[in-house]
This record gives sequence, structure tokens and C-alpha cells, in this order.
Amino acid sequence: MGAITESNIDIDFAGAATTPPVDLDLRPDHLEFGRVTAPLWFRARYRNAAWERGRVEPWSTINLHPAAIVLHYAQCIFEGLKAYKLPDGSVALFRPEMNARRMNHSAARMAMPDVPEQLFLDGIRTLVDCQRKWIPDPPGSLYIRPTLIGTEPCIGVRASSEYLFFVIVLPSGSYFPQTLSGSTGTVRVFVSESVGRAARGGTGDTKAGANYSVTLQVIAAAKKKGCAQVMFLDSHGERTVEEMGGMNVFFLRGGTLVTPPLTGTLLAGITRDSLLKLAPTLGVKVREERIAWDELLAHVKSGRVNEAFACGTAAVITGIESFVLENGTEAKVGDGQCGPVTHKLFDALRNIQYGVSKDPFGWVVPV
Ligand code: PLP
Ligand code: COI
Repeated sequence: MGAITESNIDIDFAGAATTPPVDLDLRPDHLEFGRVTAPLWFRARYRNAAWERGRVEPWSTINLHPAAIVLHYAQCIFEGLKAYKLPDGSVALFRPEMNARRMNHSAARMAMPDVPEQLFLDGIRTLVDCQRKWIPDPPGSLYIRPTLIGTEPCIGVRASSEYLFFVIVLPSGSYFPQTLSGSTGTVRVFVSESVGRAARGGTGDTKAGANYSVTLQVIAAAKKKGCAQVMFLDSHGERTVEEMGGMNVFFLRGGTLVTPPLTGTLLAGITRDSLLKLAPTLGVKVREERIAWDELLAHVKSGRVNEAFACGTAAVITGIESFVLENGTEAKVGDGQCGPVTHKLFDALRNIQYGVSKDPFGWVVPV
């Protein structure tokens, strides 16, 4: 990763905006995920085939022409990463260059311009630096949401020629209200056997906003059944496991951790990649392999699969208590509690992210 400088960023805000109001409770377990946005954003415009200088300033509502392409044809992509407070009081990001690269993978698929990696990284680092006081203490963190939208007014179906890239930051605790931050917890997961998320040749391996809107209906239905998340199978009728609406998924089967391979229809999660590298160093075998749902379900019922978890930036590692099927039956994973391997991975990952243990991988990037 190149050096981070502020050379292409303007900073313009009143000092007061960097300190949270005294009555705002930033304790991680008092924060609803995604609800509190810190006052500054980073923004940069793309016009006339070039990026203009980026700015850190108080965020404002976005003035869009009603014909703006994003509003009609969903030309919108985003990323998600976090800033963590380390024991010495310093602040670090986790593998931000991976987010920069994935953003541009999404941009290419959605016919959007690349966000220069340096602009992406400088913008985030400067923004976080200006809002250090908004970072909750561990086990909380500052969730960072870079977003790119096509802003040109045109109802013709084509790529926008103008874009807004912006980054907002949100103090956060646990993603799931059911689990406490700093602990794995477990949630019930609905298995979507008939509603798909991503098709072959589609956009499933990007963070296109539209990938999420197509999951909202089934997420709402799952919530009514007491499930916190939805696990999707492939959309081509093979009934293989893909991923959750906003997380990748791992299973412990016969002592080996397995996760679906990156077939192009699921997101290449940075947490997933980190766990594939971290697990072997903890003596846990891992394998990427095609996972047939019906076989997996049989293994859950027989106890051969005795741990399962969702993983992602927002969710970190969240254990799966049980799978709820469309026919209303429920299959408990192990005893429904978070298992020892899930715990071990959670602790190891978090200790690296929070600077509590050594980072042999070079994943932690100081702000
Ligand atoms: N899958 C989807 C659909 C996601 O939205 C996310 C979250 O970003 C993930 C997986 C996990 O990715 P990461 O670990 O990079 O956050
Ligand atoms: C993330 O983990 O960063 C995501 O974008 C997933 C979403 C469910 C918040």
C-alpha cells in the first residue's frame, strides 16, 4: 500500500463538530447499528472524466436532480470497513486496501469510474483522524461507509457521466441487537430456498446497492419468524449454499471449517479471507468447497456439523443458533450456543483488529 498523505484532500470544518455531544451515549451496547452518523464526511466529485479534489467537511443532505441515474437505475456501490481504538490510544483500520480494490471491482461491473486507491485511502484516513472522538471504546468501533453514486440527470438507460463519492462514519457496537458487542452470541437464520439473491453473470460478487434491496423482502419475512439473518442458496437450482444478505458463512464439519468458494455470485468478504488465513495458524483446518444445502442440513441434524457462523465487517463473527426452513422446521446447530472454534476465531481476529495481539499478516494500518 502506498504512503497515506493528505495532499489531495481539503479539510474544512468547525472544531466543535469533532466532539460528540455530552448527552450522546457512545457505549457500544447502547448504539443501534447504523443509526448515529458522525458529523463530518469525506466527499469528492467526478466530472468531465476526472476526479476533483476531495474534502472533509460537515456532511449535508445530497441535492439530486429527480432524473439522477442512481434514483432510477441504481448506479450505486458501497464498501464497509471499521476503525478501531488500540490499547495505546492510537487508531487503526483493518485491511483498507482490500476495500479500495473491491470498490473498484464493483465500480467496473457497474460501469462507474475507478475511485483512485490513494483518494479512497487518504479520504478515509483523514476523515477518521478528524473524528477520533467519535470512535467508541472497545468492544465498539467506528463503522466506515464509502459510497459511490451516479448523479447525472438522464432518464436514458446508460452510465452516468458524473459521480459523487462520499464516506460517512458511524460509531457502532454489535450489528445484531440480539448479541452483545465483544461477544460472539448466536442468532437464528432463515434459509431462503425459493428467493434468490444473485444470478450467474449478475452482480453478486460486488457491493452494488441493488444486491441488498432484493433481499429486503425476505429479510423482513425472516424477522417475523424470529430470524436475524437470511442465508441464500444459489439461484440456478442446484441448492448450494452461497452466503447471507450481508455476511459470508462458515460451517465446522467433522472438525474442518468449510465455506463456499468464490463462484462469482457471492461477495469476496475481507473477513472471510482473513479467517481462511488465520484459522490454519490456530490449528483449525479450512477448506473452500461447494456445499450442498440438503447434505449440510442432514449433517446439522446428525451433529456432524456442530458449529456455524456468519462473518463480515459489521457482523464480525456471529454464531448461528439454528436454521429455519421455509416449511417452518428448525434445525439447531450443536447445542445452539457458540462453539469453541467459533470463539477461538472470534478472539484471534478481534485481538488483531484491536491491536491486543501481534499482527503477523500486516493487516492493521495505523491512522
Ligand atoms: N457478503 C455480503 C453480501 C456483504 O454485504 C458482506 C459485508 O460487507 C460480506 C459478505 C462480508 O464482507 P466483509 O467481510 O468484507 O465485510
Ligand atoms: C458490512 O459488513 O460492512 C456490510 O456492508 C454488511 C451490511 C449488512 C452492513
